[in-house]
Amino acid sequence: MSNKLLDLSPKLSLVTERDLELSEFTAVAVPVTPGEKPQLVKSRFLTALNNFTKLDLNIELANWPEFTAKAGEIIEVPLSAANLTRIYLVGIGEANNEDLRKSAASLGRKVKSSDSQLLCALSEDKNLITTIAVALILSNYQFSLKSEQKVKKPSFTIYGEFEKEVERADVLATAVWQARDLIHTPSNIKNPEWLAKQASALVSSAKNSGLSITVKSGRAIKDFGGLVAVGNSSPKPGPRLVEVTYAPKGSAHWPHVVLVGKGITFDTGGVSLKRPYDAMIGMKSDMAGAAAVLTATVALAKTKPKVRVTTLLMAAENALSGTSQRPSDVIKHYGGTTVEVINTDAEGRLVLADGLAYADLNLDPDYVLDVATLTGAATLGLGRQYAAMYTRNTTLAKKLNEIGDRVGEKVWHMPLVDDYSVALASDVADFNHTADKFNFSAGSVTAALFLEEFAGDRAWVHLDIAGTGRSEVDAGENIKGGTGFAVRLLIEWLDTF
Ligand code: BES
Ligand code: MN
Ligand code: ZN
Repeated sequence: MSNKLLDLSPKLSLVTERDLELSEFTAVAVPVTPGEKPQLVKSRFLTALNNFTKLDLNIELANWPEFTAKAGEIIEVPLSAANLTRIYLVGIGEANNEDLRKSAASLGRKVKSSDSQLLCALSEDKNLITTIAVALILSNYQFSLKSEQKVKKPSFTIYGEFEKEVERADVLATAVWQARDLIHTPSNIKNPEWLAKQASALVSSAKNSGLSITVKSGRAIKDFGGLVAVGNSSPKPGPRLVEVTYAPKGSAHWPHVVLVGKGITFDTGGVSLKRPYDAMIGMKSDMAGAAAVLTATVALAKTKPKVRVTTLLMAAENALSGTSQRPSDVIKHYGGTTVEVINTDAEGRLVLADGLAYADLNLDPDYVLDVATLTGAATLGLGRQYAAMYTRNTTLAKKLNEIGDRVGEKVWHMPLVDDYSVALASDVADFNHTADKFNFSAGSVTAALFLEEFAGDRAWVHLDIAGTGRSEVDAGENIKGGTGFAVRLLIEWLDTF
């Protein structure tokens, strides 16, 4: 099977009042706020787009008495005027970021897989344009390995003087799209070597960017005990350590951020096999953290922030085989810390521990941030809308919280409960890798406490995206499957340096 994907992403462009040719569009979208009279909408619409005086929206609108204009509600007004076949009256609720994301995603879905050419005049507020444009694109996400593919995709044109905002949206949506493609790729195609090759291809497509990449495997990663112990469960090709750096000219004295991504290309649980077996179906997404840190880093070639970034993809498959690790094995992590393996299904923290220790001991980072689909417990606690964020740095927590709300990738600051760390004691090694000593529950918290042991005294953040990294429903900006969570959050955060 080929793994070449068709380009299914819609085109995004911009038109200003000066250049507007209505005949180039098949549909137009205009906003409606709750309580607004359709008559007003009509006159505003007509003023903005002038010369369309022949329409009488009132007649059509009379059929929609239920319309309350809350975010995402849409009235479709059919017409036939030149090319124009539809006007979408789009409810925008409170007209804030969150509501416009909903509205634009709902609008994007109206034209998904069609050849509509949509003129979108949903907002005149330049702070909302990027959100709108990103939601239009992402709501059109598709992934297909069908042998016969119909490539039908709409185009979106944003109305107004918003060049910078639309360009930004293109960068963000592209990075999320790329991450989703990696996550949706099935695991018979996606092994650690494949992931490393995709990373190389993405890096070399960004020219003169300050980006570079090294891929290590075999003897070169022998000191990465967790990565090797997990990854050797799978027949060749084995585990990979992928290191992508963003270090443009002059960056030597900039702050240094290290990103670490969990890149488990499939998680069977290993010898501690996942049960029920259905719990395994989504596990091709277990490299969503690696996908997010990778495509966010590649996007830096375009956003050009003044921060040096080293991104580590901890790529391994957690398979069930004769070379799988066993419960009670003791492994030695990068830097020498020994860990007793309790449950081979807690493989994520083993590969991340090596990455964090390597960052602390070799890279002298100012900040270390890891992203991982780490624990089912995170989903139990927070559901699929909020990622669990762990850090001792409250300033940084607040910042990430604020950015997450704005970009629609929300994080919730969780406590690192020191009282629970006794559960990680082991009789034979420095640590147990799962908290089996006392029954504290709090599986997402104890996993974070384990990781913290490897981050030294660095300013460290852990994002458990087990819940947010994958959508179980086809709705809003997501289809069922990988969401690309954390891509926007990271790009925007790195832009604040
Ligand atoms: N990849 C899973 C976590 C996960 C579960 C992600 C569901 C997305 C959806 C992880 O490797 C895992 O298996 N964690 C175990 C840890 C336990 C054995 C301590 C879990 O959460 O059950
Ligand atoms: Mn697991
Ligand atoms: Zn896993």
